[in-house]
Amino acid sequence: MWSPLLITGFVACFAAPSHQQFPRRCATREALLSGECCPAWQEGDGSACGASSGRGFCVDVDVDVEPARPDGPQYPFSGLDDREKWPLAFFNRTCRCAGNFMGVACGDCKFGHFGPSCGGRRESVRRNVLHLSRAERRRLVSYLNLAKSTVSADYVLPTATRREMTEEMEDGADPRFADASLYDVHVWTHYYVSRAALLGGPGNVWTDVDFAHWAPGFLPWHRLYLLRWESDIRKLTGDDGFAFPYWDWRDAGGCDVCTDELMGARSPRDPDLLSPGSVFSSWKVICSRPGDYNDRGVLCDASQEGPLLRNPGNHNRNVVPRLPTSAEVDFTLGLRDYDTGPMDRTANMSFRNTMEGFGDPQTGFGNSSRMGMHAALHVFMNGTMSSVQGSANDPIFLLHHTFIDSLYEQWLRRHQPSPSEYPDSGAPIGHNGEYNMVPFLPLYKNREFFLSSKELGYDYSSLLDTNQQLAESMTPYLEQLQEVWPWLMLVGLLGASVPVLMAVAVMVTRRYYRSPSRWSTRKWRNLFALPEREPLILAGDKEEEAAAHRSYQTAI
Ligand SMILES: *[C@@H]1O[C@H](CO)[C@@H](O)[C@H](O)[C@H]1NC(C)=O
Ligand SMILES: *[C@@H]1O[C@H](CO)[C@@H](O)[C@H](O)[C@H]1NC(C)=O
Ligand SMILES: *[C@@H]1O[C@H](CO)[C@@H](O)[C@H](O)[C@H]1NC(C)=O
Ligand SMILES: *[C@@H]1O[C@H](CO)[C@@H](O)[C@H](O)[C@H]1NC(C)=O
Repeated sequence: MWSPLLITGFVACFAAPSHQQFPRRCATREALLSGECCPAWQEGDGSACGASSGRGFCVDVDVDVEPARPDGPQYPFSGLDDREKWPLAFFNRTCRCAGNFMGVACGDCKFGHFGPSCGGRRESVRRNVLHLSRAERRRLVSYLNLAKSTVSADYVLPTATRREMTEEMEDGADPRFADASLYDVHVWTHYYVSRAALLGGPGNVWTDVDFAHWAPGFLPWHRLYLLRWESDIRKLTGDDGFAFPYWDWRDAGGCDVCTDELMGARSPRDPDLLSPGSVFSSWKVICSRPGDYNDRGVLCDASQEGPLLRNPGNHNRNVVPRLPTSAEVDFTLGLRDYDTGPMDRTANMSFRNTMEGFGDPQTGFGNSSRMGMHAALHVFMNGTMSSVQGSANDPIFLLHHTFIDSLYEQWLRRHQPSPSEYPDSGAPIGHNGEYNMVPFLPLYKNREFFLSSKELGYDYSSLLDTNQQLAESMTPYLEQLQEVWPWLMLVGLLGASVPVLMAVAVMVTRRYYRSPSRWSTRKWRNLFALPEREPLILAGDKEEEAAAHRSYQTAI
């Protein structure tokens, strides 16, 4: 649970959410025994890492074992947890991709790049969820639902530790990996990165460890996490323009995205559940019971654990008095230092710690007994969102973390830190600059995501300049216009038909009474001209605005 235990100084229940995911093609006995995860570029030349095309090469994994750059003192073990020196417990050789190539076999392009040789640049725009048109809202919900119901083609989840896998393989069995939906692969990733360390046997766990929270890696890790999730949804739907929207919760009185059109309203029958009018009410959660896994000393096995729980505002108000205010956000963004002191929950005047929630957003002092900013939202939701490990089960997680990422981006743009301001050493385990982020394969380092979103191919509508913002704010209206366009046309035609019928009647009458008539074709044309001109103007405007839209969305 996020809140009450924290105050008393216990962190057991907070076992960091961890997300362990494995490329299906490396989740084999052979790959584990050889320690090599260098799959063939199947969609391309068929060589390992696309080496024949120069896309990448199979190389020894680079883990930062420099004694001059030790981890902080918070985690006092070594050689016990599969996440230490990631990914050495599983693999010591992986693909290193050249140029703009990326991916487990170097078959993809780096974020923000596209094309056969990944030479194209593309910038997507993440927008305020409350500014989306109705069609865009429907699309968001249906994409998420599709991800929840589609088995991931690329990834499987390990349900045993590396040690257990070794024993099972010695007995002749295959290592244990489970299929999961594309959405659940990401839920599991968040569980795995934040879970407790299993020290062996029931109840023997160390909970004060988290490879993605309560330390400097929090913001870079979640930046990468959202990028991968977003790109998975683009691949799944073929919609390359898709971008996660954000929920700007500053000064919100309550959960204004909790409607059936968006993340689901409250059930009229049970305040802890979602309304049957939302597709999310039928979702089942996984990896949401950290206390249970810790008692048994096992990993989450990715089985279904019941419905999503959410009861916004029913939380403990001594921990979170209200949702964060604009003034608190401004104070946080004004903190100059990315992280300070021990770089954990107790850090004072640390932008990262204050943004994450243990720094007081009015004074900047760490170890706060009240939760602010990021953590406040999790506690406020009083349900699945409120435990770190299970929180990504609730799709509100995406809207919330996209907003956190936009605040991170604002801080980066305002303070322009040099890459060396991200800590090299002394951070809690998993958080130093050169640490490979757990549990991602392919490998990414924390420092690589301590840079502006523009370099990663995306921007936020709220951070665009005024002209771009104006164009951006027009898009929902344009889309609505597109929806009603056939109707406008029909109304136009109907409107036109009245004078036409009258004219025909007049003409027929005139013809009847005096032929030959003085009617010219010009008159006919005039009659038709008016109703025809109106839709044409609309179409013209629409094209102009769509062009403006394209120009800020796609910067080549
Ligand atoms: C890589 O891992 C494999 C399998 O565990 C092992 O046999 C091999 O010796 C390792 N190589 C290095 C350089 O550590
Ligand atoms: C919900 O809030 C109550 C206090 O108001 C607390 O006791 C309970 O643990 C919270 N539940 C979750 C899931 O956060
Ligand atoms: C933070 O500041 C408080 C108050 O000055 C102090 O007691 C505490 O030791 C400081 N914490 C750290 C980690 O420096
Ligand atoms: C953090 O707060 C708890 C109690 O609120 C206290 O026992 C502990 O010493 C504090 N830690 C630091 C480093 O200030």
